[in-house]
Amino acid sequence: MFRPPETQPTFFVRDIPVYGDAILAPMDGISDWPFRSICRSLGSAMSYTEFVNVQDILNRPRYVKHKLKFEPAERPMVIQLYGDDPKLILEAALRVQELGPDIIDINMGCPAKSVAHRGAGVGLMRTPLKIAHIFRLLSQHLEVPVTGKMRLGWEDCQTYKLVARIVEENGGSLIALHGRTKQQGYSGQARWEAVGEVKSLVKIPVIGSGDVRRVEDIQSIKTQTSCDGVMIGRAAMGNPWVFSRLDRDQVPAEMVRKTVQQHLQKNIEFYGEADGQRLFRKHAIQYLLLQDLDRDTRKEILRPRPAGEFMLLLEQLHTRLAELQA
Ligand SMILES: Cc1cc2nc3c(=O)[nH]c(=O)nc-3n(C[C@H](O)[C@H](O)[C@H](O)COP(=O)(O)O)c2cc1C
Repeated sequence: MFRPPETQPTFFVRDIPVYGDAILAPMDGISDWPFRSICRSLGSAMSYTEFVNVQDILNRPRYVKHKLKFEPAERPMVIQLYGDDPKLILEAALRVQELGPDIIDINMGCPAKSVAHRGAGVGLMRTPLKIAHIFRLLSQHLEVPVTGKMRLGWEDCQTYKLVARIVEENGGSLIALHGRTKQQGYSGQARWEAVGEVKSLVKIPVIGSGDVRRVEDIQSIKTQTSCDGVMIGRAAMGNPWVFSRLDRDQVPAEMVRKTVQQHLQKNIEFYGEADGQRLFRKHAIQYLLLQDLDRDTRKEILRPRPAGEFMLLLEQLHTRLAELQA
């Protein structure tokens, strides 16, 4: 179903209008420029980079250069940072601000040990006063709005309501909430009612995240929580058309073929032939519904090939899939 672009902003991040309510969630290793640009062209309302380590920005900028690249068509563009030291976060934020993003976001949700256990990502949710310090510093010194993406909290200690208030009181312009604790990781059910609780506590826009899998879920979470926007993460892999309000089983085969081609081309343009192919594998598995095959079989089918042959292979797999589904 074609949805005309919104003519009125759905919400504002401080003074920045956002047209539309469904947004590709930031995902490390997934929401790179090729995938973001596909999703944005299909209706994702704004773009978030993958999270970027503030220490890398300051100490080895070449290593993270590609993560910070974006194109004007992605605007409003959000660069997401993670770190645990307010001064370093500010220093890195000032540096990335020069790249011209519309918004800078602080990650308060990553549960990975290497991040959370040193006090960054969801580790920040255990130190609310530090969050206050970070948002105060950033909102005082940056020209662009500062936003935060968080979880419910660490474990039993669910500080999301306190942290939401702190973000708003210290100059934050938007809160995205993934309704799970650190302990839950990505399992169990996301608690949408927590998104509703935060929405009723703050005046800044709130985005709900977690378990929005099908088109109907977009409206369900909005109705249940009154949130301003919805993030879609894992379900957008293999189905970026969800941003055009199509479930995967509604997407015509020819549309899949065209998008696979475009996405692979963008990957190769961005990463070069070999890395572009290698990094496309995880997307190909989802697009071509190969999830049920075991890891080795998938690896063998999608092994690196000379330029052109990889696309040919994807075309053959696609034709086979279309025949099976007919
Ligand atoms: C592979 C992967 C990487 C992720 N990386 C990030 C990240 O860099 N920054 C962030 O804020 N959230 C990250 N997330 C969390 C998602 O943005 C989202 O909140 C979460 O996956 C729940 O939404 P979903 O059920 O739609 O996937 C990541 C999730 C996954 C699965």
